Amino acid sequence: MKNILLKKALEVLNNSHSPYSSFKVAAALECADGTVITGVNVENSAFGSTICAEANAFSSAVALGKKDFARILIIGGRDGNITDFCPPCGNCRQIMSEFCGKNFEIILYNGKEFETHTLSELLPGGFSI
Ligand code: THU
Repeated sequence: MKNILLKKALEVLNNSHSPYSSFKVAAALECADGTVITGVNVENSAFGSTICAEANAFSSAVALGKKDFARILIIGGRDGNITDFCPPCGNCRQIMSEFCGKNFEIILYNGKEFETHTLSELLPGGFSI
């Protein structure tokens, strides 16, 4: 499955709209039913209006009626060159925690190797009501 998610993320990576940072990010989110929804970062000249790749993938999935998720793969790098792991920002970890349990998998890829984390590893003590 990792390789399918990687293929889908690579397919959309160049759709990233990142004229300000040149840092392209893509996410491939696997739903519980096996559907894979992708997202890329979409930057804005008002920097705070930028949308992360992971947030985009989750929003698209929810708009399609999906709310159960198995794992997400994230890649990112300057000019789309994948040379390091690209862990999700704090805001995206919180978005994940809205829908996903502590065993939700977050898969990172640095161009050579995969690294897999659980949501509880990356967001210990997350907020919920
Ligand atoms: N970015 C993401 O898409 N996801 C993250 O988890 C961290 C950062 C994007 C936002 C911005 O377009 C670029 O990476 C540089 O911060």
